[in-house]
Amino acid sequence: MTKLANMPELERMDRDNFFHPSTHLGQFARGEAPVRVMASGEGVYITDIDGRTSLDGFAGLYCVNAGYGRTEISDAIAEQARKLAYYHAYVGHGTEASITLAKMIIDRAPAGMSKVYFGLSGSDANETNIKLIWYANNILGRPEKKKIISRWRGYHGSGVMTGSLTGLGLFHNAFDLPRAPILHSDAPYYFRRPDLAQSEEDFSRQCAANLEAMIVEEGPETVAAFIGEPVLGTGGIVPPPAGYWENIQAVLKKHDVLLVVDEVVTGFGRLGSMFGSEHYGLEPDLITIAKGLTSAYAPLSGVIVGEALWKVLEQGSDEMGPIGHGWTYSAHPIGAAAGIANLELVDRLGLVDNARQTGAYFNAELAAVFADHEIVGEVRGEGLLAALEFVKDRDSRTFFDPATKVAPRIAAACLERELIVRAMPEGDILGFAPPLCLTTEEADKIVAITKQAVDAVAREL
Ligand SMILES: Cc1ncc(COP(=O)(O)O)c(C=O)c1O
Repeated sequence: MTKLANMPELERMDRDNFFHPSTHLGQFARGEAPVRVMASGEGVYITDIDGRTSLDGFAGLYCVNAGYGRTEISDAIAEQARKLAYYHAYVGHGTEASITLAKMIIDRAPAGMSKVYFGLSGSDANETNIKLIWYANNILGRPEKKKIISRWRGYHGSGVMTGSLTGLGLFHNAFDLPRAPILHSDAPYYFRRPDLAQSEEDFSRQCAANLEAMIVEEGPETVAAFIGEPVLGTGGIVPPPAGYWENIQAVLKKHDVLLVVDEVVTGFGRLGSMFGSEHYGLEPDLITIAKGLTSAYAPLSGVIVGEALWKVLEQGSDEMGPIGHGWTYSAHPIGAAAGIANLELVDRLGLVDNARQTGAYFNAELAAVFADHEIVGEVRGEGLLAALEFVKDRDSRTFFDPATKVAPRIAAACLERELIVRAMPEGDILGFAPPLCLTTEEADKIVAITKQAVDAVAREL
């Protein structure tokens, strides 16, 4: 490869050739938005090509759970690439790596899960979920039971069907999404409840009652599944209100609606439990995994299929032949090798426990510093996921005009101070999801820099 250490040249090539995802395309091409070229990383720190090092308080896109620079994982990738870089997984083929990883996942999964289908991204794994649900209901002789209920503010990917599951306008507008048969129910977002007098428990009951009304109105015989993240992620980093999952699961069971738990963010330790399902007592029929499976050292995702659904898929093959679903890169050996090394590291370093302990410390420090801040309406989090939501007036819960861009300005002020955090796409919300190896000293540093940044922007408002 030609070595190009020259930043102006790289920047020109970038703006001329590279279509960046989730980017303001015009501003970027015209040079009105910054380029940042990342070069190396170590632990929770990432360094760009100009030598600027930042503490990554969002672990990339909440995925580099083990932290940067883990040679245990990169060595495993290199060794697998040398030995056998690729073979497919069709018609019963596999590699030692993919078979081993499937067992490691099932060993860690909540009770009642049976098999793992491997993909490459959270989006394609959710695409697989939709197909499996439709297929199973055809096999079971109920072809009309196909609707899938997601939630406003849920995030499940940005493909045609998974972008439809996602409940954020930015991912629908001008893309002709959402597509049928996807419906959206209430966001489990207590802070933004319409009725301020409502208790958390009452709000949860209301969400479940509205879901039930939707199922009944649509006809339970047409509703196949409900999909949700244990903690809302991209939609605002919102832990569920008290009693939420209990009430929702009762409705789903009553109407024979499958539960798909999207654990792309929460799987493998982020909440301080191996899975969010375990954390909140969920009984999923399907689980989506990605990010934390390999700590993003290689692209790999998966669908964990529950025992009952698996039996239906076996019946389908007995009746119709081999399942007509698969990707060239399903169970890619390099991704599988990364997954094994990553999960071993997560165990060896006790990262799930660290997410619980350091996460509790981090959330308590955020609450201590920001709970009474004049522009902070809510401090919330679970494990190593946290958010600050900004308001213009705390007493009346008045939000800022989105044009003021309060959260993006605070994120930029953090970046100037060498801390990466994320302004979430809808609302003035600052998200934190650092690597699970975070220490208390690093947690203190995140809180201290964020305080300086919030104060600086508050003074300008
Ligand atoms: C909960 C959840 N599901 C699915 C996805 C989609 O994953 P990907 O970006 O790998 O397609 C994401 C991505 O952030 C996610 O947070």
